Amino acid sequence: MTSDHEAAAVPAEQQAREAEITREVLDSFRDCTDPRLRQVMRSLVHHLHAFIRDVRLTEDEWSKGIEFLTRTGHITDDRRQEFILLSDVLGASMQTVAVNNQAHGDATEATVFGPFFVEHSPEIAAGEDIASGAAGEPCWVEGAVTDSTGKPVPAARVEVWQADGDGFYDTQYGDDRTAARAHLFTGADGGYRFWGLAPTPYPIPHDGPVGNLLEASGRSPLRASHLHFMVSAPGLRTLVTHIFVSGDELLPRDAVFGVKKSLIKEFQRQPEGTPTPDGRDLDGQVWSQVRFDIVLAPDRA
Ligand code: BEZ
Ligand code: FE
Repeated sequence: MTSDHEAAAVPAEQQAREAEITREVLDSFRDCTDPRLRQVMRSLVHHLHAFIRDVRLTEDEWSKGIEFLTRTGHITDDRRQEFILLSDVLGASMQTVAVNNQAHGDATEATVFGPFFVEHSPEIAAGEDIASGAAGEPCWVEGAVTDSTGKPVPAARVEVWQADGDGFYDTQYGDDRTAARAHLFTGADGGYRFWGLAPTPYPIPHDGPVGNLLEASGRSPLRASHLHFMVSAPGLRTLVTHIFVSGDELLPRDAVFGVKKSLIKEFQRQPEGTPTPDGRDLDGQVWSQVRFDIVLAPDRA
């Protein structure tokens, strides 16, 4: 690994003292009867001590770190999870997604779940609109779900959710509206289609300690425009992912590192008055369309 600082010249005697502390803590897990807990804790201690020694952490910095974590805890409640947000902006969420969704043939890549999924979304029939009054430009979304042998997956559950044209999820309005989210099932040919909204960029919650950290680091809280999917079917690995908009300037600096090249899609904007795929009359509104074919890995891949 390359560090940002010049390697500090630490005298051998000092290095030995520091290594002795690490060894003592690692040894303290010797009687742990849960082998997985022992492995995780020993590795955590190993890397944590290496980090402290690598940056030559000052006592003042240690205090600031504790204070930051304390603020992160205080702002967390049933509706706001600042620790997950911290994991997201450190790329720890995406790294965990990667480790747990091993590449399998051409199976669609997974990405971060995010805090805006809601259980029990309304069910829609194929071709219906998920907007439920949410503002935004209509977007026709279609595709097919197959397994990794190319076989169509009928009756797969496709959950979709997204921010509206103003960059807010329904849950952020503080009333009990349900909008821009729904689920539907694939047909006998594995196909699905619905009207959604053209995705817009929006910031992750940034009025707390994680926002302070982003600001101090010169990082933006914005996420690249996207549309969330969760696709599940018996015997196949549940896929949590999004699709992103080709050409979006935020693609290379998504605040939570969720963008994967394979998930960037062409959203084709249609000129005003272009007939819609299902004959829907949009009253002269501009609309767009995108195709997203989804490949599910086997359950135990
Ligand atoms: C989201 O896409 O909705 C999201 C993901 C991670 C953190 C915040 C928001
Ligand atoms: Fe999102």
